[in-house]
Amino acid sequence: MNGFESITNVDGVITPTSDARVPVMDRGFLYGDSIYEVFRTYGGIPLFYDEHWTRFENSAELIHMELELTKDQMRDEICRTIRATNASKCGRDAYVRYTVTRGEGPVDLFPSPELVTRYVIIVKGLNDWNPEFYRVGVCLAIPETRRNPVSALDPNIKGGNYLNNVLGVIQARELGADDCVMLNDSGLVTEASNSNVFFVIDDVLVTPGESAGHLRGLTKAAIKTACIARDLDVVSRDISLDDLANTTECFITSATREVMPALSLRLPDGQILSYPEGGGAVTRRVMEYYKDFIDTYLAGNAHLSMF
Ligand SMILES: Cc1ncc(COP(=O)(O)O)c(C=O)c1O
Repeated sequence: MNGFESITNVDGVITPTSDARVPVMDRGFLYGDSIYEVFRTYGGIPLFYDEHWTRFENSAELIHMELELTKDQMRDEICRTIRATNASKCGRDAYVRYTVTRGEGPVDLFPSPELVTRYVIIVKGLNDWNPEFYRVGVCLAIPETRRNPVSALDPNIKGGNYLNNVLGVIQARELGADDCVMLNDSGLVTEASNSNVFFVIDDVLVTPGESAGHLRGLTKAAIKTACIARDLDVVSRDISLDDLANTTECFITSATREVMPALSLRLPDGQILSYPEGGGAVTRRVMEYYKDFIDTYLAGNAHLSMF
């Protein structure tokens, strides 16, 4: 398999990613004043392009940013960028991250309406997750840092400031885990650093409800649809530390991870919960249902290929 050359498009200028530059006075750099989306392709077919755009528009609205590109213009620019890579030749799936920053301006927190937004599209090979994360499972820990409250920085703003999640994952690594599961200010489970989380409690598949404050993951939504269609109920509800003590399975989900089983979860008091290697019976059912769901999606959307 050939390597995947990463290519970046900054406001229409396409170069190898290592040559791409953004000015230091860009507010994305100065203040994290930007929003982004990440999607993956299977072959050339983008997964959930329209749904990502809807979430992107919601992020823009939440930070009072006017988008200058339309969904179709962004798609055209993404296609141009993907075609500048060797993705179709090396047969690799692509990771696509598009960001819009509030643009370049003076050092002033208030974003003047005259600012012109900047877009950056990064295309690279899909993440090579450690195969052990699927064969055995990922180790999770609950860090001290709580997830940003909705009333302060809504986790549904998929923005350029991920310090809350960065702190969560740093603390999880210090605790010997691979990733974190963050609680909100009320002590309820929200999500992992860049993925959503599901548990099995008393044989029921449960995931935090929206009021806990987490990004509305598109993989999470697809999993709910796929499971319900196959008669596996998914309950969205508050999950407290007491509930965690009764969990028998756990997995995390995102566009690039798909369904990744958890091997363990460290609680704040140091107790470590263990889950079945490679995922228990429910997790394995979810993996199968999600894979079938994606296969059906791809079969029905071949015409959307970006190659
Ligand atoms: C904080 C956070 N939660 C959840 C997710 C999972 O979202 P999705 O399934 O749309 O990839 C992500 C991934 O972008 C994320 O950054």
